[in-house]
Amino acid sequence: MSISYDAESRVFRLETQNTTYQMQIGPVGHLLHLYYGRPVPDALDYRLLPRDCGFSPNPYDLREHRGWSLDTLPQEYSSADNGDFRCPSIDLRTASGFRGTDLRYAGHEIQKGKYTLEGLPSAFDREDGCETLSITLKDEAAGVAVELLYGVFPRQNVITRAARITNGGVEALWLNRAASACLDLPFGSWELMHFHGRHCMERQPERAPLIHGVQTISSSRGASSHQHNPFVILCAPETTEDTGSCFGVMPVYSGGHFTDVELDQSGAVRLVTGISDAGFSWKLDPGETFTTPEVLFTYTHQGLTHLSHTFHRFLRQNLCRSKFASAARPVLINSWEAAYFDFDADLILTIAEGAKELGADLLVLDDGWFGRRNHDKAGLGDWYVNEEKLPGGLEPLIRKVNDLGLQFGLWVEPEMVNEDSDLYRAHPDWALRVPGRKPAVSRDQLVLDLSRPEVADWIYETIASLLRDYHIQYIKWDMNRHLSDVFSRDIPADRQGEVSHRWVLGLYSILERLTTEFPDVLLEGCAGGGGRFDAGMLAYCPQIWCSDNTDAYSRLAIQHGTSYGYPASAVGAHVSASPNHQTGRRTPLGSRGAVAMAGMLGYELDPGKLTEEERLEIRQQIRDYREFAPLVQLGDHYRLGENAWMFVSEKRDRALVTVTVPAPEGNPRPLHIRLKGLNPEGRYQIRRMTYFGCALQPEPLQGTWSGAALLYGGLTLPQLFGDLPGAQLLLEQTEAL
Ligand code: GLA
Repeated sequence: MSISYDAESRVFRLETQNTTYQMQIGPVGHLLHLYYGRPVPDALDYRLLPRDCGFSPNPYDLREHRGWSLDTLPQEYSSADNGDFRCPSIDLRTASGFRGTDLRYAGHEIQKGKYTLEGLPSAFDREDGCETLSITLKDEAAGVAVELLYGVFPRQNVITRAARITNGGVEALWLNRAASACLDLPFGSWELMHFHGRHCMERQPERAPLIHGVQTISSSRGASSHQHNPFVILCAPETTEDTGSCFGVMPVYSGGHFTDVELDQSGAVRLVTGISDAGFSWKLDPGETFTTPEVLFTYTHQGLTHLSHTFHRFLRQNLCRSKFASAARPVLINSWEAAYFDFDADLILTIAEGAKELGADLLVLDDGWFGRRNHDKAGLGDWYVNEEKLPGGLEPLIRKVNDLGLQFGLWVEPEMVNEDSDLYRAHPDWALRVPGRKPAVSRDQLVLDLSRPEVADWIYETIASLLRDYHIQYIKWDMNRHLSDVFSRDIPADRQGEVSHRWVLGLYSILERLTTEFPDVLLEGCAGGGGRFDAGMLAYCPQIWCSDNTDAYSRLAIQHGTSYGYPASAVGAHVSASPNHQTGRRTPLGSRGAVAMAGMLGYELDPGKLTEEERLEIRQQIRDYREFAPLVQLGDHYRLGENAWMFVSEKRDRALVTVTVPAPEGNPRPLHIRLKGLNPEGRYQIRRMTYFGCALQPEPLQGTWSGAALLYGGLTLPQLFGDLPGAQLLLEQTEAL
């Protein structure tokens, strides 16, 4: 049993292999957080010594106990305006106009298996021991019931949380904040690590001590965003990659989000996370229930790498439903940077022939194949083929691509519309817009109102027909602007605050139907690169285009930041032309290949423009990658600093090590690297070693070493001269010592 309740102490205990989570029902029914951390056998209620710190009110029925205040005690789901002045998890307005709730325990249930969330992606059990705890809290005055859900995955060391909020009263109420979860850490010193960025430079790690007050990581853009990824870490100041305490918080949501982290007057930390409350207001009529998105929590005392491994495995095995989460991925070639909008069937076929010769598996026809889409000002929404570019339609093109022995993939951006499109001319009201005002445009496009079922149904039907009518084995699902003018025509005024979230629910309903009906189609998410790189999308899309920036040097930082939360199996990574189209930088083909091999490899260039030598090199890259791919996709990813990494097989008998030197110096210090993840008792041989990007080719290292020597002593590489030079080593265990 991973969940237990002791009626005498009124303590709940959630146990995973490496963690204990405890909470307790307080003297008058408040649900108090006791502990989340390394396993401990006893109840930790002694830690909550009540103390009067002044100006912290007491619940009326505990007014004789001045020290007993919701403002100082750690809670499982904090309320507004009830004497706790810290960040609330729930903030509502009743029909009579009051705001606060005072949530008290009303019952609980423990069940085998994992709960599901209506209309939302969530983690699933693989029949290996997940249990669900549901605790109901009630506030009689507001007539509201909150069901707190906990999914405990003992082997995976993950606890999932979500909440269902029901209006049990007789009048409507409005939720202005409905967080997924609250985590109160009454003791300890914590730093916040989060992943900010911008288009073409996503998920840059930033770590800083907390300051008193509230720090908020959020997106009010209707998407999880390039700017602030929803994934955050709280870690002790001394935490490194390999040691130290850290909590990972991974929302399973693709829309606007917030995470408030508050360092309060007593030095306690509260983290509250959920749907963005910018403009959010959800009306609950009597009897109605609102379900929050899920959030995944993990804790480890073994440092950031261990935290990353937990989420990498969990997202692959317990969140992504696609068979491609573990099945081999095709090496693809994408037409975007090869041709942009300027192509015809002959050019695409020439690219396909070139791709086949290089050894790729799949050709992706990117933007520009439909409507009057000759630039980004027109055509979005018109998902029928542009016969001027592709005479005879998609069918003959796909047949010819298939005849070459390649699979065929297609780009779509179904959530959007250009004003200059037949769809917009037929349905101008389908776009989000505020009455009486022209909407803000972004990339010349408007956002379709996915909160309306008829619009969501139309999108589903349109994409499903493409998949039914043509032999399409891959879809790149793009989203190239954020939401503004969020007003939906068919919803009453007092429900307009629901539109952003209903929009995301509309998106999920489309993806749910499509992935159920077409399980053999590989879906790659995209939002101007990695603008919607989140666990919500990963439930449907086993891989996501990591960034529109394909420069190998920039990708080092982007992929490094991404790896804290997300597995390499989720990272779409392409080799593109040099000089790079986003930065103008020249990098050697070998360096571009080595960096892209840290994800799901593809190419995004015109093979016709390659020299014979480059073609040979790419053929070799693809051959090498086929050998490495299982390690990259399913192995454990270790960060060896910011510019080096390795993937180690589950049995620890194979490893792929990549070291890069982004800024070679004259007379450099020795390039020394200690490996990770190997079996100290094994012996390893360098089965293959290649240098890339080197102006002078050093002698490859050869030999066999004990795992201990490589882990504790490390390897010293020769000086590497060149532009972004580096080395790639494939290690194999020869025997146990
Ligand atoms: C976005 C994507 C690119 C490409 C273009 C096409 O920017 O991230 O990869 O598909 O759209 O317009």
